[in-house]
Amino acid sequence: MNAIEITDLCKQFTGKKRVRIDALKNINLQVETGEIFGFLGPNGAGKSTTIKIIMGLLRPSSGTARILGVHSGLAASRLRVGFLPENPAFFDYLSAEEYVGFVGSQFKMDDGLLKRRSEDVLKRLDLWDARRRPIRSYSKGMVQRVGLAQALVHDPDIYILDEPMSGLDPIGRALVKDIILELKNQGKCVFFSTHITDDVEKVCDRVGVIVRGALVALDRVENILKSGVEGYLVHLRLSEDVPAVFGGFEAVRRSGAISEFYVPCPAFNSFMGTVNTSGTEVVLVETRRRNLEDFFLSLVSVGRESG
Ligand SMILES: Nc1ncnc2c1ncn2[C@@H]1O[C@H](COP(=O)(O)OP(=O)(O)OP(=O)(O)O)[C@@H](O)[C@H]1O
Ligand SMILES: [Mg+2]
Repeated sequence: MNAIEITDLCKQFTGKKRVRIDALKNINLQVETGEIFGFLGPNGAGKSTTIKIIMGLLRPSSGTARILGVHSGLAASRLRVGFLPENPAFFDYLSAEEYVGFVGSQFKMDDGLLKRRSEDVLKRLDLWDARRRPIRSYSKGMVQRVGLAQALVHDPDIYILDEPMSGLDPIGRALVKDIILELKNQGKCVFFSTHITDDVEKVCDRVGVIVRGALVALDRVENILKSGVEGYLVHLRLSEDVPAVFGGFEAVRRSGAISEFYVPCPAFNSFMGTVNTSGTEVVLVETRRRNLEDFFLSLVSVGRESG
């Protein structure tokens, strides 16, 4: 069974002067149990709108969202879900320990288990020393980590996280990535949104890219990377006395006897033929691929041109 299933989802808002905003245009998406899914898109693309519909916080204009087969309009769909909203705000007179305890009690965890889990997640998110201070005294990054702690405390099977790395410093971002990978090892499903491609590249099985309310790409991260090879950086051992030109290409870098040549894919075979016949030593060949950032930017510009 799919952990999350979105079918023909559309959402329109009425903006200022009654202008119609098509926030979601016929989104179809399935996320399997045990899968880490990155929902990638620029600001205003429709990520939070989709997540709010999955969580039953917004009604779709048409189409459906289901969690483990249960319609997202029903509270029962959220029993096995840990949710981190965008820009989380909590009852800030409570401490992290009290808030996490409150969330655990809403999921009817028994006291002993809740105490153990609460301690585990507060320690994991580096909030243990601050656990008894009111949340209003926390920094932005600490509040974000309280958000993650409350999503984890009841040990759900599915995690729906709206920009979990937002507002965190590099150490905090790395921590969240580690936690997501741990959840994957435990067989959990994580659906998270981000506009930072690097977050997706490191941890996701699959990525969906949303631009202006439309899903413009949906694939495994490695397929996207595989399709993005653009050329090769060939390191050759060449005498320092000869000009830095080889096979019609000028060296992009020279360091002592090693010269590096960037060779685009179509020219690679003939370049390597010249290398062979000349008996030049190849020190290293590096693949130069289009990264997700470029992929994402190209999709965004296509979305802008046609939108
Ligand atoms: N309550 C609302 N009323 C009117 N328009 C809305 C409302 N909520 C969202 N929108 C519009 O819907 C579109 C999608 O917004 P959404 O918050 O889903 O984007 P997002 O991808 O989460 O962006 P961000 O990266 O900035 O969080 C935007 O054009 C936004 O202005
Ligand atoms: Mg958002």
